[in-house]
Amino acid sequence: MKKRIAVLVSGGGTNLQALLEAEEAGKIPHGEIAMVVSNNPNAYALERARNFGVPAACINRKELGSQAAFEAELQAVLERNGTDLIILAGFMCILSENFTSKWPKRIINVHPALIPCFCGEGYYGLRVHQAALDYGVKVTGATVHFVNEIPDGGEIIAQKAVYIEEGDTPEILQRRVMEQAEWILLPEAAEKVCASM
Ligand code: GAR
Repeated sequence: MKKRIAVLVSGGGTNLQALLEAEEAGKIPHGEIAMVVSNNPNAYALERARNFGVPAACINRKELGSQAAFEAELQAVLERNGTDLIILAGFMCILSENFTSKWPKRIINVHPALIPCFCGEGYYGLRVHQAALDYGVKVTGATVHFVNEIPDGGEIIAQKAVYIEEGDTPEILQRRVMEQAEWILLPEAAEKVCASM
């Protein structure tokens, strides 16, 4: 039976799009994207989910007021949906140990750098690429890893390197890392994990 995947998002959702297209192309035979959940009501990712006919919900972190209330609601929604695997695809909340401990080896995340570089609390989105450029590294990339109680600290599943080029801005680099690494790596990792469950 196919594993039921819930994708958690916060913004643009290009990684979600890559997952949806991979599933449509038959590249995730052991999994199905059963639901998309956003913490942000304005996330364009919700629109992408609806375009593919995938149920999409928002759990408004700001309105709920606390991380504990948000996670309790999230847990209930995921359980109701019969979720097997959670994929964090541009999800900008750090999940607490109380939550992650309920899903051991059942949550994966894509991070836009080669962990253990430029990762952990405070490193998300364009900030990661800004940090790589500030440091002056010549190679960066993306990592897909299991999620545990340490931000970006869980076991690594897959990595792909991407070269930094002369004149890169955080925006240009972000796009190259997405195109050359994230959008390929995340669907592949999703299939690998689903097949092994
Ligand atoms: C992606 O680059 C993803 O790796 C990163 O945010 C972007 C979201 O883009 N995630 C993190 O930085 C998490 N620490 P998307 O919404 O278009 O997929």
